[in-house]
Amino acid sequence: MTARLNVNIDHVATIREARKTIEPSIITAAVICEQSGANGITVHLRQDRRHIQDRDIELLRDVVTTYLNVEMAATDEMIAIAERTRPDAVSLVPENPNEVTTEGGLDVVKNFDTVSNAAGKLKDAGIFVSIFIDPDTEQIEAAKRSGAQQIEICTAEYAELTLSARAMHGEGERKANNEVERIRKAAVHANSLGLLVAAGHGLTYRNVGALAAIPEITEFNIGHNIISRSVFVGLNQAVREMIDAISK
Ligand code: PXP
Repeated sequence: MTARLNVNIDHVATIREARKTIEPSIITAAVICEQSGANGITVHLRQDRRHIQDRDIELLRDVVTTYLNVEMAATDEMIAIAERTRPDAVSLVPENPNEVTTEGGLDVVKNFDTVSNAAGKLKDAGIFVSIFIDPDTEQIEAAKRSGAQQIEICTAEYAELTLSARAMHGEGERKANNEVERIRKAAVHANSLGLLVAAGHGLTYRNVGALAAIPEITEFNIGHNIISRSVFVGLNQAVREMIDAISK
């Protein structure tokens, strides 16, 4: 079965916030993604509100008819927003105020009490809980114990290894293949514990295929590459091309 695609539309809000104005509309973006075949919409409500704003979550909740996944830090403020707005899913992510984008997975082992407390509150509110983690056995097992229903495997390292097509020969190709194998083993292990498995971060039209071939991965969250391509070919075509890349 082909994995689902949630399109991360944070970058549409990044352009809007560059001018603190009303365009481009993330609501229009969400509707176009859905009409183009996306299975869901993902946004990250950051504590610094650098792109997505609280009101965006409220509006998206009213408009998104497929699946709304909100990435957030496991803080009291964020969990209260989720309890109020009720997205379909929350993905708990680490957050560092100085980072350009999310850097690696959440350390569930180290932050176990905070994460399991957040997961419990979200599940009580009827929200599906996913945790963004590195493909690491200890983290997977801690995520399971915390009450999460899904893990999202951080693919940043794989993305880095496959960024340049020229590096994908010899040693470069071997390292990338090893990383695919590490992700595959993590997905199989998580699945054996009863966790669903998603993947995301840095995935592109070129590198998603090797991960789409792993049957245990049933969801991808992809943003930067799709929104970048949409500048040249339009959002509709950019989403369709990613769906093709995942299903081939
Ligand atoms: N998944 C998670 C948990 C993320 O934090 C991000 C980036 O916001 C993505 C997926 C999407 O990453 P990208 O924009 O590189 O496709």
